[in-house]
Formats: sequence, C-alpha cells, structure tokens
Amino acid sequence: MKSKGLLSFLLFFILFQLGYAQTSMINVYGRNSEQLNGRWETIIDPFDAGIGWRAVYKDAKPTGKNDFVEYSFIEENTLNVPGDYNSQLPELTYYESSVWYKKKFSHVPDKNERLFIHFGAVNYITDVYFNGKKLGRHEGGFTPFQFEITDLIKENGNALIVRVNNSRVKNGIPGFGFDWFNYGGITRDVHLIKTKKVFIEDYKIQLDPDDKSHIIGYAKLNSELAGQKISIKIPELKIDEKITTNDKGSAAISLKRKIQLWTPEQPRLYNAGLSVENDSINDRIGFRTIKVDGTQILLNGKPVFLRGVNIHEEIPQRKTRAYSDADAQVLINWAKELGCNFVRLVHYPHNEYTIKQAEEKGLMVWEEIPVYQGIDFADSTVKNKAELMLREVIKRDKNRCNVILWSIANETSPSKERDKTLVALAKEAKLLDPSRLVTAAFNNVSYHDYKMELKDSVMKYVDVIGINEYMGWYTDWPKDPEKVEWISNFNKPMIMSEFGGESVYNNKIDTAVKASAWSEDYVVNIYNNQIKMFKKIPFLQGVCPWVLADFRSPVRMQSTYQKGWNRKGLLSDQGDKKKSWYTMKAYYDQLKKVIEIQ
Ligand code: GCU
Repeated sequence: MKSKGLLSFLLFFILFQLGYAQTSMINVYGRNSEQLNGRWETIIDPFDAGIGWRAVYKDAKPTGKNDFVEYSFIEENTLNVPGDYNSQLPELTYYESSVWYKKKFSHVPDKNERLFIHFGAVNYITDVYFNGKKLGRHEGGFTPFQFEITDLIKENGNALIVRVNNSRVKNGIPGFGFDWFNYGGITRDVHLIKTKKVFIEDYKIQLDPDDKSHIIGYAKLNSELAGQKISIKIPELKIDEKITTNDKGSAAISLKRKIQLWTPEQPRLYNAGLSVENDSINDRIGFRTIKVDGTQILLNGKPVFLRGVNIHEEIPQRKTRAYSDADAQVLINWAKELGCNFVRLVHYPHNEYTIKQAEEKGLMVWEEIPVYQGIDFADSTVKNKAELMLREVIKRDKNRCNVILWSIANETSPSKERDKTLVALAKEAKLLDPSRLVTAAFNNVSYHDYKMELKDSVMKYVDVIGINEYMGWYTDWPKDPEKVEWISNFNKPMIMSEFGGESVYNNKIDTAVKASAWSEDYVVNIYNNQIKMFKKIPFLQGVCPWVLADFRSPVRMQSTYQKGWNRKGLLSDQGDKKKSWYTMKAYYDQLKKVIEIQ
C-alpha cells in the first residue's frame, strides 16, 4: 500500500508542477468567496494564433506610436461569464476552437489569507494565466478546478486570463461523437475564494450505512497539521462538538443522534457549520441510507421504485447551457411536476445548483461522467482522465444525500480495454465512496428466443444495471410488449435508464401515426407499450424516459422536423407539454397511489 501511496503522491506532485489544476476544495458556495461573474473581455481565436508570438496571455498594450500589438483585449469585446460562448454571438453558434477571456479585478491583500481562483466548470481544455504567469491547465468540461494565487495577487490591476478551447478530441471524455450540443466556454460560476492560512479543504458528513442514528465522516485540513481543533455544529441536532486532527490533518466525525431521515416525500436537511480557528464553512446536510438487497433498491431500508426522467443541462427556450439557480429551478420543477422522485443528470456532472435544488425538493440523483459511447479506450491517457473526473465529481457532491448513484459510463461497447477501464472506474467509485451505489447505462442487450438477456461482463461490477432500449423507435417490438421477457442472471436491480421516441409538438404536418412523421400519437403508443412491458419485469426498480425536453444536437439535422434538435423530449423546445408527457405523468401518478396504499 505504501508504494501505491508514494506513487500517487509523486504523480500528483509531477502533474501539479507541470501546471495541472488542483482538484478543488469542496463547497465553494458555503465559504468566504466572491463571484467574478459578469462581462469578461474576449478575443475569438479560431486558429489559436494567441498562443504563439502574439502571446495574448501577456496582455500587452501598444505604448509608443510605432509599438505594434496585434492581439490585445479591448473593453468593447466582451462575453457573459458564466455562459457558453456559442449562444452569445451568431458567429460562434457551431464554433469549436479557442476563445480568450480576461477579467480584471482589484483586491486588498491580507497577509493572513490564502486566495484561490475556482472555476465551476469550463468546456473543454482550459489554460489559466494570472498577472502574466501561467497557472496551469485543466481538461474536462463538467467538473470544478482551482488555482492558488496567494503569492501573485496585486492591490490593483489583477488580470486573470483564460484560454478555452471546446474542440472535440479523439482521446477526450467525451470523445469525438456525442448527441448533445458542444457548448464551449466558462459555463459555470467563477469565484475568488479567500481562506485563512489553515482551512478545511474537504469534509464528509453522512449517515452510517448500518446505523440510522450514527453520523460519520471526517473534516480534513489543507495541511497535515495534528492537534488542530475543528468545530462541527448542527444546531437542530444539538451538535456543537470539537474534533481533533491527526498527523494527516484529518479529524474523524462520529456522533449519535435521533435524526429525521431524508426522503423524497420529506427531504429534511439540517444546517451545518464547520470551522477551524476563524475559517468557517456552511452547508445543508441530509441523512439517508441507500443500498441494494438482491434485485431491490432500499432507501432508508425500504424498497423504492425510481420514477425518473433524463435531464440535459440546457434551457431549450434560451438555447443555452443551464448555469444558474434559476435555471436549476426550471429543470427540477419540471421533473417534480411530472411526478418524479428521481432524475438522471445526463451525460456529465451538472452544476451544483441543480444537485442542490433536487436535494431540497426531494429528487434522488444519478450522476454520470461523460464516458459516452465512442471513447478511445486504447489511448493510455483515457483511463486517468476518467478517473480524475470521477474523483472530482465524487469529491464535490459526496455530501449531497440525494445523490444515490455514481454512473461510470453510457453505452460503451465491450472490448478488452473498455472492460478494464470500466472495472477500474467501478472499483474507484466504490473505494472513494462506499456509501453510494455504482451504475452504468448499457445498450448491448442480446435478444434471442424471444427473450431480452442482460449480457455484459461489466454488469458484474456495478450495483445497479441501467439499460437504454428504444423498442418501438430504433427497433421493432420483438413481440407483443407485455409478452417481452427479460432475463438477468445478475440478481441486481435494473433501471430502464432510457426509452422513448421523437415527436414534434403539435405536429399537424402529418397526422398519420407513423415514426417518420415525428408524430406525437406515435410516441404515446411507444410509451404505453413500454409501460405494459415494465409491469412484467420483476427486477425493474426504476424508469427514466428519454428525455425531459427537446435538446440541441449537431447530429440531429433532419431538415423538416429536427433542424438541430433531438425531439425525444416530453416537452418541446419551448417547454410545451407533449401528449407523451401526460402518458408518463399518469403512469407516475398511478405508481404513487400504489405507494400511498402500502
Ligand atoms: C442514446 C444516448 C442518448 C441519445 C439517445 C438518442 O441512448 O444515450 O445520449 O440522445 O440515445 O438516440 O436520442
């Protein structure tokens, strides 16, 4: 074990020295921080000319009459941060290359503080410079990262310069091909975090999976200081304790209390505060247990059926990435209105506002890293990139009690390298967070002898099996839906993680009930048949129609009905409820009645 620890430390040290972003401290919103959001000066740089001798990051300005600086920021050229750049200028609609951003700010330095620039997410490759110095690079479009700037800050004229490139890359995660819009840019909040010299970098406060009155976890400092007193307060549980750090700077949390558990019906959260010396953090924590028992999923020890919906991080009416708390409320309120107790956030980690809105409103969450379809598993860097993204999202959301499933992949094809990578990811997720379930969405179900059989070697390594199937849309029904038999030799719960079909809202163009008319009635028929089949699958413990709302995708360019949109939404691109919305809502209302009777 020692050699593994040393190896990972060395790897981290080398990556850090090479200028790779630090995995961010958790809970930026509960800390002493200010948002750097707003209009940032920008330079569109399609050929990355700004990297070479033009050296945009040096932020040079012409001084003398003959002094020539070709690329320099000007105040008139700005874009909103947070926000994808594709939706902000017509010339950027399908843009896939670099944009340079610059944010100027002042700060009164304080010798007792440390300063960090924290990015909620930037898609896809990000190079960060501060006052002319390169801080480093981050790869990945959906997880947070930070850089320390304590020793570089000035009182005035600080220049934070960021190069963002959203080009798709063969060995990226996701890879070249994916069925959603490639929104590039600084797509989530940017914060200046101020901490004391010693601060709490990480913590976990959750329920002991085996004792519903036992709160366990830890609080970890940014340095290996022993003997430090950390205060933990949860007033509504009469908790006001001091815990002491060990020689790793970590203090164990173990507290017995009578706790109201978090449930979708009563999503009870408790205000919590952590502090060391005079550095403090606030959070809202819920307590629940989530386990599997044979083919059942148990929430707080009771079987639960997941009434879900798939959600992309997009506001269709605005044709932009969702990024704010208001956006999160729109998406989560739609899911609540549908009758959901669960949401699958596809196919990448969503912003923290959405996870927290779901937690406040009683929605369990499936979180997923974008190991999506055509990943170049043969590339030696891919596994490390996927593991880093998994670590980043588990570190960020491990205190969100409503997150019940970490998903390591969507629709990847079996191969030696793919199997090896996914098995490693499943084990890594379990190691990082034994308190939650691990899943993946598979679409390689084999159909023979009139039976659908779950057959994928990786299914052995997940707790819950997600299946994406499009019977009635991409494939015909093999037989009458209620007669389709599903076989699983895994003795695990299955979630139908995707199903559905495309329709154009209020499609009067061709009332014929046929797929090629993108007819609403055709899709209602698909859903009714799917529901008939669901009732015959004994190990089915959840369903997730694909998808909440029509969403933008550059692989959906059929010129009559799609026009750049995937039309499988239960809602149109204007938020109108299609007929299929009412079909799913009626099904969920019926399921809720069954629970109420029990
Ligand atoms: C796949 C995939 C989705 C995609 C959907 C579709 O299952 O997971 O990302 O959008 O099918 O074809 O619409």
